[in-house]
Amino acid sequence: MFENLKPTQTDPILGLMSAFRNDPRKEKIDLGVGVYMDDSGHTPVMKAVKAAEARLFDVEGTKSYQAIPGDALFNERMVRLLLGDGHEILTTGRLSTLQAPGGSGALRVGAELILRAKTDATIWIGTPSWPNHVPLLGGAGLSIRQYPYYDTNLREICVDAMMETLKLVPRGDVVLLHGCCHNPSGADLDPSHWDEITELALSRGFIPFIDIAYQGLGKGLEDDAYGIRTMASALPELIIASSCSKNFGLYRERTGSVTFISGSSSQADIVLSQAKAVARQMYSMPPAHGALLVGMILDNEELRRQWQSELEEVRCRILSMRSILVDQIKNNNAGINFEHIKRQSGMFSFLGISDQQLERLRKDFGIYIVSSTRINLAGINSTNIGYLAEAIKTVLH
Ligand SMILES: Cc1ncc(COP(=O)(O)O)c(C=O)c1O
Repeated sequence: MFENLKPTQTDPILGLMSAFRNDPRKEKIDLGVGVYMDDSGHTPVMKAVKAAEARLFDVEGTKSYQAIPGDALFNERMVRLLLGDGHEILTTGRLSTLQAPGGSGALRVGAELILRAKTDATIWIGTPSWPNHVPLLGGAGLSIRQYPYYDTNLREICVDAMMETLKLVPRGDVVLLHGCCHNPSGADLDPSHWDEITELALSRGFIPFIDIAYQGLGKGLEDDAYGIRTMASALPELIIASSCSKNFGLYRERTGSVTFISGSSSQADIVLSQAKAVARQMYSMPPAHGALLVGMILDNEELRRQWQSELEEVRCRILSMRSILVDQIKNNNAGINFEHIKRQSGMFSFLGISDQQLERLRKDFGIYIVSSTRINLAGINSTNIGYLAEAIKTVLH
């Protein structure tokens, strides 16, 4: 049987990572990989997570299976983190939440649930988007349509083209939106855009599916949730996939949640039973460790304060790298304006240079960037920023 298999194409990011590892140059910089790094170039375990782990070590009395929806405290706390403690939807019984194996698992559970409700469902995905959206959602069987999102020439969201396309989305289709810190562009919808899309969802009858993988890394924990909270107030149905990989630094613990908002509490019960059946079919129960830590951190005042202050440090470090980089490369001979990087949010932005310039950065300077020119701003630090800025100015020459 296995002789029928052909090798898959190497994921360009994995190829780039391996080329980076094999590059002997000391001054090399990896701006391709999508994880947060601190000023020493390390992806740390947050102190709040370490403290929660120490407590968990003492209190955890079993490694028996969790329930299929996962840890109840985690689910309750995640919903309140996403929607805000006082959100009116919390008391309506219209929510169904499951812990999921990371944001990716949450997206997939969401897709499978949609297909149980509508076997020929279509999801609209903005272009560009996180490269794994199409495989994850299309792989489940959803038909994919696209709407324009970011104009690489103008270096901003193409709002008019996006809204024009969304006005054509048929009733019952699903529209994927990035909650904040758009990956790969860093260009986020502002509150007026969220309001407009909410109106469109109401009038057209489409269902938004919000992927939020970076809450707290953009404008802050509350502001980053504007879209989710607005849509949850106004719409009868909504799906939210969230990830704790970046904001809790729990990447390998595969921690996330998926929340469905239904038209009534009795519908929410049915959605939960179907979502449980989806999970049972794919992986049975989610992994416990990361969710127990997040539940503990969000439920404990001291741990929560510690976590929020560390998250704020992460956010401010990225903002400061954005701003210093732009200032250092603004006087370039090519007259290219990089101000968009300052305006954008989260870990990513497009550098917006040519293929040849990208290749020179890699060959001559050991600076590794994916072909879309998406850079991870968290790969920049006080040690390498001067070298990076000079290299960019040189290749632009
Ligand atoms: C936009 C987006 N959604 C979802 C995810 C998935 O996150 P996780 O690692 O928790 O599966 C990522 C991770 O990079 C992402 O960038």
